Amino acid sequence: MRLDALLARLGVGTRSEVQRLIRSGAVAVAGETVRDPGRALPPEAPVTVRGQALDTRTGRTVMLHKPAGVLTAARDARAGTVMDLLPPLYRSLGCMPVGRLDKDTTGLLLLTTDGELAHRLISPKREIEKVYLATTDTAFTDADVTAFGAGLALGDFVAKPARLDIVDAHTARVTVTEGKYHQVRRMLAACGHETLTLHRERVGPLALDPALGPGQMRELTGEECNALREAVDQT
Ligand code: URA
Repeated sequence: MRLDALLARLGVGTRSEVQRLIRSGAVAVAGETVRDPGRALPPEAPVTVRGQALDTRTGRTVMLHKPAGVLTAARDARAGTVMDLLPPLYRSLGCMPVGRLDKDTTGLLLLTTDGELAHRLISPKREIEKVYLATTDTAFTDADVTAFGAGLALGDFVAKPARLDIVDAHTARVTVTEGKYHQVRRMLAACGHETLTLHRERVGPLALDPALGPGQMRELTGEECNALREAVDQT
């Protein structure tokens, strides 16, 4: 990749701003000042801007604690989206949501620059577990557990067998391996429950970091990225 393209992607400035910056002598590659914005970069060459080391990784995956009232969309003219909650760097690198949570669903949303990883995480064929905590207007019964385990007919499709663990009368933990539109709400509705709140706790091996409040995000650690890749590779 060209030096100016990399710096622009990393949010150092617009293409013309970073070209001016490079020509001014503020950028060094592997310890050597480079004044040619078009210089091709060897992979993993260390880059500094005004003497400060730059994190040049263009592949990033983040976890966001999605708050209620925010759309899972790249952009929307009328409402706030999860992209508004990301620092500019991640938008500039092209992080995109992995699947969707409804506007009123809260909890773990992954966003990544890795389209293949995203595709594998949401593919029903790979059966990556998504775990939700749901509260409802009516009390859960053992019949709900059985109905979820059998696979619920939802009109346009039959949901794969899923797990419902009753936490208390009006709270259950639901584990599904597919993510059709409003899937958990529709499964609960098929059992006669209106969903009051829905919160995603986990995707595959990755649980929402309890240190993240609603609207906060952080980048995944290397170990977390490896665990996700292993999960999708094994399936
Ligand atoms: N199932 C739903 O019904 N809504 C979500 O946001 C996620 C899963």
